[in-house]
Amino acid sequence: MASKLGRNDPCWCGSGKKYKTCHMAFDEKIEDFRRKGAKVPGHELLKTPEQIAGIKESAKINIAVLDYIADHIEIGMSTEEIDRMVYEQTTAMGGIPAPLHYKDYPKSVCTSINEQVCHGIPSEDILLQDGDIINVDCSTILNGYFSDSSRMFMLGNVSEEKKRLVQVTKECMEKGFEAVKPWGFLGDMGQAVHDHAFANGYTVVREIGGHGVGLEFHEEPWVGYNSKRGTEMLLVPGLMFTIEPMVNMGKVEIYIDDANGWTAYTEDGKPSAQWEIQVLVTEDGAEIISY
Ligand code: MF3
Ligand code: CO
Repeated sequence: MASKLGRNDPCWCGSGKKYKTCHMAFDEKIEDFRRKGAKVPGHELLKTPEQIAGIKESAKINIAVLDYIADHIEIGMSTEEIDRMVYEQTTAMGGIPAPLHYKDYPKSVCTSINEQVCHGIPSEDILLQDGDIINVDCSTILNGYFSDSSRMFMLGNVSEEKKRLVQVTKECMEKGFEAVKPWGFLGDMGQAVHDHAFANGYTVVREIGGHGVGLEFHEEPWVGYNSKRGTEMLLVPGLMFTIEPMVNMGKVEIYIDDANGWTAYTEDGKPSAQWEIQVLVTEDGAEIISY
């Protein structure tokens, strides 16, 4: 992070201002944290106002696609039909579904039902049934900018215990968001998520987490929820990442489907839920970019 910029050089952020009147004090603050042993983000992870505007345009599509799914999802529909809707709505608005062909992923969206933890692959053979809970995880590319968020949907007569899982998982995400503060730490968020899940008798998946996002689908930092307050990356204004905890009703262990190499399931077969938002650390708090 050592900056070789002179005080009178143009600032790295592209503002055109002199470094000393722009990000010099900001960089010194980061450097202080680094010297004390904190993990700190490099400049490349800090989004400029222009990039943030572009990412917000991408997120408009992502949010609209999820709104569309919310209006059209129903019992009896195949998850392939959800995939078709995501592809058609995203491309109609000028976007590209980010999952399609990403690391050989075959579809435009992830649809994870009941004991599927994440990365469920849409199929003609999977029909939504009365009582199912499903996560629909959408990601969009627009003009090279990435957005990523997911929601849970409940179909028909969902059991009280599954409803509670979906509700508490949403609260975990919200409590995580409330813990995001400039010059705090990513672990503040992780602990807030974990504590709420734990207080409700649930577990939070360890192996799969959130991620930096915006200029790439998956950037640094990796975002876990079993971390402690005051640890992990320093939350610097301009940092953007997802909060997307996977909360299990039962045991924490998961396994990946050998047949497709993607879909994660709970080891004990009990349900799992996930909500995902994309957030930006700002000078005075945090902002939700996609939901
Ligand atoms: N949307 C997922 C996430 O939140 C990414 C899944 S990768 C894919 O990180 F290829 F399966 F889409
Ligand atoms: Co994500």
